[in-house]
Amino acid sequence: MTIATHPITAKAHTNIALVKYWGKLDTQLIIPQNDSLSMTLDEFYTKTSVQFLPELATDKVIFDGEELSDKDSAKIRTFLNLVRDLAHITYRAKVETKNFVPTAAGLASSASGFAALAGAASRAAGLNLNRRDLSRLARRGSGSATRSIFGGFVAWQQGHDDETSFAYPIDEQPTWDLAVIALVLTAKQKKISSRVGMQLAVETSPFYVEWIKASQADFETVKTAIQNQDFTLLGHTSEQNAMRMHALTLSSDPNFTYFNADSLRAMKMVKDLRLQGIPCYFTMDAGPNLKIICQGADAERIAQHFQAVFGDKQVLITRPGSGISISD
Ligand code: PMV
Repeated sequence: MTIATHPITAKAHTNIALVKYWGKLDTQLIIPQNDSLSMTLDEFYTKTSVQFLPELATDKVIFDGEELSDKDSAKIRTFLNLVRDLAHITYRAKVETKNFVPTAAGLASSASGFAALAGAASRAAGLNLNRRDLSRLARRGSGSATRSIFGGFVAWQQGHDDETSFAYPIDEQPTWDLAVIALVLTAKQKKISSRVGMQLAVETSPFYVEWIKASQADFETVKTAIQNQDFTLLGHTSEQNAMRMHALTLSSDPNFTYFNADSLRAMKMVKDLRLQGIPCYFTMDAGPNLKIICQGADAERIAQHFQAVFGDKQVLITRPGSGISISD
């Protein structure tokens, strides 16, 4: 095990959860309350390079070309400490990261961000982790990052401790022509982070226990839908699961929501399209941006329909993306 003598670069894609993670059993280790399942997206990714250097007195983090303050780089430095502990090294690191995802608008930039950081930092520290162990490491940065190590359809097994909570691929290179259309309604930072929002749900929503039961059932249903390439079952179950998650924010104390007026309008449009016989469903994470799940052949016309209404917003078609790549 030797520290790399040049920067190591990793590229990881973000993912959209079809069955969501919303709540931790262990907030320190980030052990979730339920299994979750996602699709990795080809269009949104993070590229991060890391080098541990003897001459550095502190970690230096450059994010999209600008050096982050101590406060803004705190989570990254905490994560680097984990890697240093694992590799038994003390050198500080130079980290350069570039995000090809609208940051913190519910497009899970933390997923691709911590997955890429886990890949680059571990390899730069001289660790040669397999992908399961990489997903366990990424999990310590952000729960959704656990799944971004793999491509295609990915499950995150809840587990009960650090060893047993990891992601595994369900179908890394799906032959299924699916698309997810991201409607970027706002690229602003979200007001209530997923960390705060989910903890509030665990502690205060009277529906939390029911959410766990429903999402475990959804997990099995979506897995079956993927195996049978059953689009209606996949879309319907994913949409229901997303709304159940958002029912937790509405039923938390204090209550809040990630919906904005445009998200509600777009949800109605999805339902109207379905009534017109165009199969599509929606999902939404911890931000107002809606993601529309559809079959590849319909993606272009559905995207045009939304673009016509949301003229000044980005409407981006994405397809199943690949797992992490790490350059030597
Ligand atoms: O891992 P975090 O803190 O980015 O939380 C992710 C929460 C959701 O995106 C809403 C759901 C999920 O499973 O990705």
